[in-house]
Order: sequence, then C-alpha cells, then structure tokens
Amino acid sequence: MSRVTISDLAKWKTAGQKWAMLTSYDQISAEIIDEAGIPVILVGDSAGNNFYGYENTIPVSLNEMISSTRAVVESSKHALVVADFPFGSYESSPEQALETGVRFFKEAKPQAVKLEGGAKVIPQIKKLIAAGIPVMGHLGLTPQSVHALGGFKVQGRGDSGISIKEDAKALEAAGVFALVLELVPAELANEISKELSIPVIGIGAGIGCDAQVLVWTDLVGLTKEPPKLAKAYRNLRSEIKGAISEWVLDVENSKFPDAEQTFH
Ligand code: KIV
Repeated sequence: MSRVTISDLAKWKTAGQKWAMLTSYDQISAEIIDEAGIPVILVGDSAGNNFYGYENTIPVSLNEMISSTRAVVESSKHALVVADFPFGSYESSPEQALETGVRFFKEAKPQAVKLEGGAKVIPQIKKLIAAGIPVMGHLGLTPQSVHALGGFKVQGRGDSGISIKEDAKALEAAGVFALVLELVPAELANEISKELSIPVIGIGAGIGCDAQVLVWTDLVGLTKEPPKLAKAYRNLRSEIKGAISEWVLDVENSKFPDAEQTFH
C-alpha cells in the first residue's frame, strides 16, 4: 500500500472528511499507529518530554529528531510522516532552515516537515517549499516559545485572535499544506478552519477543525501527568505496571520460565 500524500489531505479538506494525526518517536509505536490506519504520523519535538527525558521540547537536538524520524519512517508503510524542526534548527535564516530540511530528507526520509511560528518564519517556509520540501505550519501555543508566551496557556483570546488569524492566512499564502492550531479558543479555530482552504489540525482547539492531533502517549494513558487538552482512551501505564509486577512475582516464585520458554 502506498503512503498517504499531501494531495490526499487536500482532497479530504474539499470533501469535508475529518482525519486524525498522532505523534510517534520510535519503532514499536510507529508500527502500531501505522497498523491502526492513522493517515499522518507527526514525529513531534514532544519527543523531548515523552521520549528523551527532557522537561519540555526546547532541549531536543536535530540529531535526536533525525534518529526518531528515521525509526518512524522505517517502521511505517501507509502514513504520511511529518518531522518537526527542533528549536534552534531554523530560526536564524532561510538557509539554516533549508540545511535542516535537507538533513531530514536525506537522513530520515519523512514526506514533510513542520515548524512553529507565523509571519517571522515565512522566508524559511518559502525556501523549503522552493526546494521541494512540503511544510506544515504551527500557530497558537507554540511550545518552543513557552517562556516568551508566559507558560502553557490558551492563545488568541480577544484581540490577539486577530494576529493568529492573520498569521494563518499568511502561512497559507506562503504555501504550507496544513496548519496545526494549538490551545486556541474553539470559536477562533473554527473560523480559521472555515476560512482557509488547507486542512487545519487542532489540539486543544475545539471540534471545528478539519483534523485532530494528539501525543500518542497521552492517548493511550502512558503519560504521567497528561495535559488537560488530551483524552486517555486506555490506561496502558497501569497495564504495563501490572504485567511487570506479575512477571516479578513469577520469577520470585519460580514460575518463570515455564516449559514453553525452556530449551533442552
Ligand atoms: O511536538 C508535537 O507533538 C506537536 C503537536 C502537539 C502538534 O507539535
């Protein structure tokens, strides 16, 4: 089966067909997510606080993102894979952004990249697109700017919604194929989704978006302290702890290995 393409996403927007994007940072989760039929996998820099053990996304390095992206691409067959540009890998200049995009495309082979920000990163976006690298935008709560934004709080309430809408239109005009809107009022996200011709992917942005994205560890209940915008559909953290405790008891009581795991 061939991979989902950015043209498929454009068709789904026209048809009003909603879809889901999920993060992944490693082989096993990518295999499972791809087998589950998720059309777009984001190798998010949320790898920082969900995989690499950092406090937030800011310390994640380009090499770490390339390594995670390679694992996800190699372990999926159907999904469109989008690689997130980490903090510090594109802000300086369009040339720096292109270098980062080229490294991702040569070393990890995703089908698209994502970067955070509005008008100020448009030269970077144009340079990438001109080189044949499809770009997904990201507005609202942009976690790489969490300190400048004063914490993880809703963006775009009241008049500040106007600048988010202007940025969204500027990103669309620059050629992004899709846009993530994070932690913005549902009414604003709904308006932007209706006014743009590209798919708008919401996270903490209400029901009116064309698509939704979640961090996969939040979705399955692996995250210790999940954010309010996420919903856990299972509690895998406690399932896994249960399996480990059972095995430890079996080891302590000489019940593991049994005949099936024993060789003669
Ligand atoms: O890094 C990430 O997981 C993201 C999503 C929350 C959109 O950027």
